[in-house]
Amino acid sequence: MLGRPSNKVDLEYIEKHPRSMDLYNRARKIFARGVTHDSRYFEPMPIYCVKAKGSRKWDVDGNEYIDYWMGHGALIFGHAHPVIVRAAIGQIRKGTHYGASHELEIEWGEKVARLIPCARGGLVEFTNSGTEATLMAIRIARAYTGKRRVIKFMSHFHGWLDYTIIDYNPDYSSTLVSEYPIGIPPEICRNTIALPPNDIEAVEKTIERGDVACVILEPGGALMGLIPTKRDFLEDLRRVTRDNDVILIFDEVVTGFRDAPGGAQEHYNIIPDMATLGKILAGGYPGGAVAGGREYMSLLEFREGGETRRVSHRGTFNANPVSAAAGNACLGLILEGKAHPTVNRRGEMLRRGLNEAIEDNRVEGLAWSTTPSIINVGFKISREDLEVSDIESYIRFQKKISESRRITHYLEKALINRGIHPMGPRFILSTAHTRRDIEVTIERFDEAVRELKSEGILGT
Ligand SMILES: Cc1ncc(COP(=O)(O)O)c(C=O)c1O
Repeated sequence: MLGRPSNKVDLEYIEKHPRSMDLYNRARKIFARGVTHDSRYFEPMPIYCVKAKGSRKWDVDGNEYIDYWMGHGALIFGHAHPVIVRAAIGQIRKGTHYGASHELEIEWGEKVARLIPCARGGLVEFTNSGTEATLMAIRIARAYTGKRRVIKFMSHFHGWLDYTIIDYNPDYSSTLVSEYPIGIPPEICRNTIALPPNDIEAVEKTIERGDVACVILEPGGALMGLIPTKRDFLEDLRRVTRDNDVILIFDEVVTGFRDAPGGAQEHYNIIPDMATLGKILAGGYPGGAVAGGREYMSLLEFREGGETRRVSHRGTFNANPVSAAAGNACLGLILEGKAHPTVNRRGEMLRRGLNEAIEDNRVEGLAWSTTPSIINVGFKISREDLEVSDIESYIRFQKKISESRRITHYLEKALINRGIHPMGPRFILSTAHTRRDIEVTIERFDEAVRELKSEGILGT
């Protein structure tokens, strides 16, 4: 739905983006919601970009941005890193699909197994996206255990597949979403149990009821650390799943190669049975993977007894040479060991600077992170609100965050007007962000907060 300009922020946004508006009007005639990913939906229209390099990108109206979407988190080395570009273009010239095996896929898999702790001595399976990786990991877990039910946590995102897109749980239906989503058969919904984040008792009770194949979660917390996962909870979860022969899957599509070279499992030193990977894995090109212990992953092997005795997997573009070349180049850079100290320092600098700006402006708000290079921002939110550990605190947080989103929508717009493009209420960093970029971002954030105050959007 198109909004009417009601304040300075909206007016400036519309004035600065006439060509984006033209493109959006065209796009709405061909795409149901005008965009090609739910997260890119933005009122009154999204910006349309033409070029990106390093920490910057440019839109069709000639505006330049310091970019904090960073390819939805895929671009830890920034846009068009020369080493990755060279690898991808070199491969494109040599062919994009051989319809045959190639050495690059082996090198790529070997690098994953070197970096990701749960894959050491284990196996890797490439897919085309994080969504496909989740699909595969759950299938393997069900095949291995012979059980059906999947435990996930409320607000944790694992892609758009039927099994994990659901947050409905009949136990909490009086207080939360009370219907199954359309398009997903109820029998599928019934096999996914969404529990409040950090609630180990709820996990234990659900496992006691039986038929649980696996627990899957974003180890750093729901939606890129918006609802932080507690370290104690991760430790308890590892113990409870191990004691009950339930497979623990870390969804490391975001945290993999980002929280640390070996992902959140290295960062927290808690090793799951399997991990799903994507984003950084393929250096900014499409790709995903499941990595994990040989006992689970070997179910993909061909074996006697036919296709029903194994987990089958196809996919035209699995480990395609271009993604493999880019992924190899990217993981090669990660293995050099210089990326994480840099990107984590930048994250820390940004988080501190945003919190100082919030404080200086005397508004109630917070910048926080579990992944050091992904900073979340919320208003009318306190540190205590982030302590979600049961259904009551989860519902409280949901109410707070929906109020905050009303404000951060305008913050995002006010920042876009100033040449900063956050990913909604969050900032995703790369090694390409310089100290100067961060200083400029903090200055513009400070101006944007002041503008929201003067426009009456953000109270003190
Ligand atoms: C934690 C997590 N898992 C899975 C996915 C799905 O990955 P993809 O978009 O590659 O399908 C995402 C996407 O943002 C994600 O954030």
